[in-house]
Amino acid sequence: MADARKKLIIALDLPTTEEAETLIKSLGDDGVFYKIGYQLMPVGGIDLARRLSAAGKKVFLDFKFHDIGATVERGVRSVAKLGGDFLTVHAEPDALKGAVAGRGDDKRLKILAVTVLTSLTQESLARSGVSMKIEDLVLKRAEFAAEAGADGVIAAAREAAAIKARFGDALKIVTPGIRPVGANVNDQKRVAAPADAIKAGADYLVVGRPIIAAENPAAATRAILEEIGMS
Ligand code: C5P
Repeated sequence: MADARKKLIIALDLPTTEEAETLIKSLGDDGVFYKIGYQLMPVGGIDLARRLSAAGKKVFLDFKFHDIGATVERGVRSVAKLGGDFLTVHAEPDALKGAVAGRGDDKRLKILAVTVLTSLTQESLARSGVSMKIEDLVLKRAEFAAEAGADGVIAAAREAAAIKARFGDALKIVTPGIRPVGANVNDQKRVAAPADAIKAGADYLVVGRPIIAAENPAAATRAILEEIGMS
């Protein structure tokens, strides 16, 4: 179970830090790794990240940077001072190289490349003028991550096996779009159940609504941990 806890990243997609802290408290020792994104960032999320870090929790800063390399480099240099563990950058070569340079010598903050969002399908990519097959595009962007010296990628479970086969342990795989069997899929498209994602090669799972919108978030977390533990 301890190993399963380390693999589960709980997305604090909530409107206030008070609500986030109530949730964190209710999960106790089952919550080891928390993700803070846009929703909390401007309303105290940065201080919450510092507090969580100081309390011994791991913190994933889901900032999804995407800008010219120099700007990403400067941004990541500031973020690195927060003491977080994971940071996302869109998988574009200059942005990734900037992020790795900005992170500096202290390698605690891992740079993760967002390949193709798990809410996207082949059709939605086509609407944006992208005709490449999703799996090929994910692998191409994973290649950018490896070349830039990033630490891992964000990808769906269905792409995990191909990424592991190509990059082995050189890239950690962090997988959102996790839905226990029977759960509401919401806006996610390339989804998988927790155990299936782990079997496919995911190193970490990101779970938001199946936990935070559950009637009993602690029980929902426990069920996911048990499923991961058995896989
Ligand atoms: O609620 P749900 O489990 O769908 O939440 C998934 C979380 O992972 C959200 O915070 C979303 O922003 C994030 N995410 C994602 N797909 C990516 C990268 C991050 O869904 N490729």
